[in-house]
Amino acid sequence: MSNRSTGQPRHVVISGGSRGLGKAIVQGLLDAGYQVSTFSRNSSEFIERFAGREGFYFARADLADGPSVSSFLKSAEALFGRPYALINCAAIAVDGLLATTSEDSIRKLLLVNAEGTLRFTRLVVRRMLSARSGGVILNISSISSLRGFTGMSAYAFTKGGLDAFTRALARELGEQKIRVNSIAPGYYDTDMSHNMSNAHKQQILRRTPLGRLGSPEDVVGAVLFFLSDQASFITGQCLVIDGGSTV
Ligand SMILES: NC(=O)c1ccc[n+]([C@@H]2O[C@H](COP(=O)([O-])OP(=O)(O)OC[C@H]3O[C@@H](n4cnc5c(N)ncnc54)[C@H](OP(=O)(O)O)[C@@H]3O)[C@@H](O)[C@H]2O)c1
Repeated sequence: MSNRSTGQPRHVVISGGSRGLGKAIVQGLLDAGYQVSTFSRNSSEFIERFAGREGFYFARADLADGPSVSSFLKSAEALFGRPYALINCAAIAVDGLLATTSEDSIRKLLLVNAEGTLRFTRLVVRRMLSARSGGVILNISSISSLRGFTGMSAYAFTKGGLDAFTRALARELGEQKIRVNSIAPGYYDTDMSHNMSNAHKQQILRRTPLGRLGSPEDVVGAVLFFLSDQASFITGQCLVIDGGSTV
């Protein structure tokens, strides 16, 4: 996907592209012709497969460690220029009742999902503002920000914050032609949901009109749409992609 004025492929930065939803999004972006930079704490088979491929850049970096993500962004920009879009996909989940959630789990959750995402977005927004050519920010939220789920209160705290952030930032950056939206996936079959019990899974399936868990590829069409010029009048919105489980 090229920039209309320069004809150059647009540069998309995505956190957490090594596995799960991020991996499917990276694949979809590359197939659509974007230049893609991504990072995660560890590499993966998927990342190794793309190593050295034109238009793709990966580095190990940790959202909880500012200098590592800053150095990732610097290298990504040296290769592909200022980012056209940022997709905040990396996050961790903590399952369990709040009363029994450890201090350490809460600290890590807030550090990665809230503080890390906020600081990394600030870094990219500064680059977008100095380029003065607009842009797109897409936050991967969760239906836990819209409905109550037992055992997910701490995680929901971070995703609810992310949706509020989406709306406020959309107002803040609209004048600079930077659009900010979010996608709220329901239950997807990824590493994040693998420790779900069979009983819980059956309960979700019963409550989901489309009768299945999401597969990571289910979010790709919406991501490409939000990044495209066809979505040029859409900002501050959240699209739920959950097979109808929250209707
Ligand atoms: N799966 C679901 O059912 C579901 C439902 C709703 C929303 N979501 C949201 O969708 C997004 C992707 O979830 P997923 O299911 O694809 O998760 P996943 O399979 O666990 O993948 C998470 C990705 O984020 C990276 N990551 C985690 N912590 C990181 C950190 N500190 N620094 C840098 N990268 C980090 C992981 O790589 P490393 O571990 O190597 O760092 C991995 O690439 C998340 O925002 C999640 O909250 C998922």
